[in-house]
Amino acid sequence: MDRIRIRGGNPLNGEIHISGAKNAALPLMTAGMLTDERLVLSRVPLLADTQTMGELLRQHGTEVAPSGNDPRTLSIGGVITNTEAPYDIVRKMRASILVLGPLLARTGEARVSLPGGCAIGTRPVDLHLKGLEQMGAVIELDAGYINAKVKGRLKGATIVFPMPSVGATENLLMAAALADGRTVLANAAREPEISDLCDCLVAMGAQITGIGTDKITIDGVERLHGAEHEVIPDRIETGTFACAAAITGGALHLTGGRMDHLGAVVRTLAEAGVEITETPTGLMVKRLNGLHGVDAITEPYPGFPTDMQAQYMVLMSVAEGASLVTETIFENRFMHVPELNRMGANINVHGKSAIVRGVKQLSGAPVMATDLRASVSLVLAGLVAKGETIVNRVYHLDRGFEHVERKLAACGADIERIPG
Ligand code: EPZ
Repeated sequence: MDRIRIRGGNPLNGEIHISGAKNAALPLMTAGMLTDERLVLSRVPLLADTQTMGELLRQHGTEVAPSGNDPRTLSIGGVITNTEAPYDIVRKMRASILVLGPLLARTGEARVSLPGGCAIGTRPVDLHLKGLEQMGAVIELDAGYINAKVKGRLKGATIVFPMPSVGATENLLMAAALADGRTVLANAAREPEISDLCDCLVAMGAQITGIGTDKITIDGVERLHGAEHEVIPDRIETGTFACAAAITGGALHLTGGRMDHLGAVVRTLAEAGVEITETPTGLMVKRLNGLHGVDAITEPYPGFPTDMQAQYMVLMSVAEGASLVTETIFENRFMHVPELNRMGANINVHGKSAIVRGVKQLSGAPVMATDLRASVSLVLAGLVAKGETIVNRVYHLDRGFEHVERKLAACGADIERIPG
């Protein structure tokens, strides 16, 4: 298994190009299942997760092929020949659940392995299932699988989510696009990735209003057609590299990065002493003077994203003073804390909150993490730590960051991948 070696201490300066967003690309790829024609998606990041999604779609019979010479442009669509999403693929990637809505809408049936819990929490899919049932699907759970069926087309319904869920909003949006009648999704998630999916569905012929709000109305159509769509830039990658500039005391130009997608991250980083300004092609990020402790609480968009919590905590671990970092989305998303403490951080977890007392210096150590964002937080820690840090289990990073070590090395980091 590959590892990443980092020798800390170099300030990062230069330019990093932001890739397409993983969490936009995955649902967009499944939207390609909604048409017999071809959805051409550009700026699809080259990641383990987008490859896994390609593999899943192909085994449903959907064609997924590079379009032209650019490996980041995919042509997706065609006839669905198999309606089962097997355990072996779903267990690798929970976002596989996003085939459920498209399969039901296109074929009237789906058998999808239940994703189960994962390292960051139990992560149930009850909201996906209840919404589809409200639209007329009959759902049974059997031997670890979701068996779903509908006679004829799904029916439009008013679905009020008890809490905003990114995945459930996406699944039901895709199902509703081909349903009979009007669907209203209330208390829907508002993440930029959802608006991106809506924009793509509209380009495919869907009728959607309220895009970007928590009340989305979809008037179902009988068929969707092919379209071209560009995946939005990754706001979590943008925020992560902003933390890299800030923590090393450098200045990075993040080309493609979008201020309007960063939500509470910009405000929180600004308060902590990090300047983020818009440029004609992206964002410029630099640390002003010292970093100081500022509290953060994770919330649905436009609040502070749970996917930035670990990276922000590393920044706070070397800031002056203390901060309280509270995780409200997932119940078990502090696994980076013991690893950071092994590197000399002073972090205490009390329930949903972590008290981070800034220290002068972290020290390098062999570390590992059990999820993607925790892994990249350890890379950030390695960039400022004294001495050598080895990050193990790099496959987590490869699920969601395109060539993170190459991008950082090009800006002056002493970082390399050790194949293993
Ligand atoms: C998406 O996960 C992202 N994944 C996650 O990215 C991200 O952390 C999360 O949204 C929150 O922003 C993708 O987009 C592929 P949710 P998702 O449904 O859709 C509870 C990363 O590192 N819930 O918005 O699974 C759930 O347990 C990751 O890239 C139910 O109770 O998240 C959680 O507490 C990991 N029942 C909360 O809602 C349901 O049916 C929000 O989850 C669905 C969710």
